[in-house]
Amino acid sequence: MQLFYAPLLPIFYVRPSMAPLFLLSIPGECAILSPENNIRGGLVMRLLFKGGSVVTGKGPRRADILVEGEKIVDVRRDIPPIDVQVVDVSGMLLFPGFIDAHTHFDLDVCNTTTADDFASGSRAALRGGTTTIIDFACPNKGETLHDGLRLWHEKADGRCACDYGFHMTIDDWNDTIESEIDDMYAEGISSFKMYMTYPAMMIGDEAMYKALKKLKEKGGICGVHCENAGVIDALIAEKKAKGENGVYCHPETRPDIMEAEAVGRLLRIAEQVDIPVVIVHTTNIEALDEVANARWRGQKVFVETCPQYLVLDDSVYYNEDWLQGAKYVCSPPLRKSADREALWRAIRRGEVQTISTDHCSFTTAQKLAGREDFTTIPGGIPGVETRGELVYTYGVAKRKIGLGTMCRVLSENPAKLYGLYPRKGVLAPGSDADIVVYDPAADHVIRAEDMVGAADYNPYEGIVTKGSIRQVWLRGKVAVSSGKVLADLDGKYLPRGKCQL
Ligand code: URP
Ligand code: ZN
Ligand code: ZN
Repeated sequence: MQLFYAPLLPIFYVRPSMAPLFLLSIPGECAILSPENNIRGGLVMRLLFKGGSVVTGKGPRRADILVEGEKIVDVRRDIPPIDVQVVDVSGMLLFPGFIDAHTHFDLDVCNTTTADDFASGSRAALRGGTTTIIDFACPNKGETLHDGLRLWHEKADGRCACDYGFHMTIDDWNDTIESEIDDMYAEGISSFKMYMTYPAMMIGDEAMYKALKKLKEKGGICGVHCENAGVIDALIAEKKAKGENGVYCHPETRPDIMEAEAVGRLLRIAEQVDIPVVIVHTTNIEALDEVANARWRGQKVFVETCPQYLVLDDSVYYNEDWLQGAKYVCSPPLRKSADREALWRAIRRGEVQTISTDHCSFTTAQKLAGREDFTTIPGGIPGVETRGELVYTYGVAKRKIGLGTMCRVLSENPAKLYGLYPRKGVLAPGSDADIVVYDPAADHVIRAEDMVGAADYNPYEGIVTKGSIRQVWLRGKVAVSSGKVLADLDGKYLPRGKCQL
């Protein structure tokens, strides 16, 4: 074992009477603190993150963070380094662990299963600074919510490296499902998901109205995938009748206005029920206009968007190389650059509450299975590993979005919206010690070959990030250091409370 100093490596300070200061490291990697040794032999170790800027929803401020075991116990300037292991974070930004409230791990789609299961997906999440994911539990058609919850626990328990919770998908409405909603709350499921498209999962207006009424009784919150299923089917039939099968048929059969139509319809149904709802993966100006109209009427509406809609645009679907386009097939599809800019403006103004990923990854071989029929290309792209760096690069660095805003959309707001605050979403005494150490000076190139996720390509290949994630700490243990995931598959299931936004 070598002894040397390197920034970000914990420095062991001990009382002067006991021994001189010494520095401890293992060659080539920050393995000084194994994931276990923050609590050793029942003795709770204290960590002091010293010299960094702590970012909250209000912005950054210089402060040290004192951690005992899994929890933060103090955040203030100049905490004396006594009886602690010091983690030197000089020059670094410290964010509360990012929360990704929209992942699909181990999900069956289009006769295949996502490339990432909970093990690979959660390791990728940690690598990207995400210490908590909320995945969508999905009962098989005709099965109960309890069946869906059991299935998702089987997929995730003991197989997830970060902390996790579930939203529950409501794909039907009947007396059994209605009676199960109370039980879901008892199980810590305080948020739900409905789809206005996808034959296997979609729900009609009547069922949606009834489900929202029941959720209102419980003070619940529901995310909705908004696209007009009927018109999409008709547009697909038109393309097929003309013999068209290019990847470009995907965006052209799922237009922005048919997303906006569904947003508007959902918001009118929510108005009738008098309940706030979440518009998930919002992509475009027309949809944002529907939200603005509803807010103007006095409705509470939460908006989620995703990095793909903030960084990419629909030109990728017109690539002559079929596979290059198919890699970007997701629903709703990528939109125009004007939509992208409108989303950034909405983020700046606080009109978008969360940026999640909708991580739903497939390999190129899986995408190729849709070669003969564009409607069978498995929809979804990877994103959980790159979200934080992309938001910093394209938001903070390029568009001067404030660090406080970045913190709100990646950590604080999802924690509040989905009942995890203040355990998660903030660096404050009493919160879990989930800390992202961001080095604003360490630019790097995104490359699929460096990713830990299971997809064999990356939609952001070749992008040079501004800065990068140097370390990630999960409940006081180092989970990622210098790009290496050190965490075991021992993430905790998080029962969640009610919406606090
Ligand atoms: O294409 C996508 N987004 N796949 C994931 C499922 C969904 O619609 O959220
Ligand atoms: Zn969706
Ligand atoms: Zn999704």
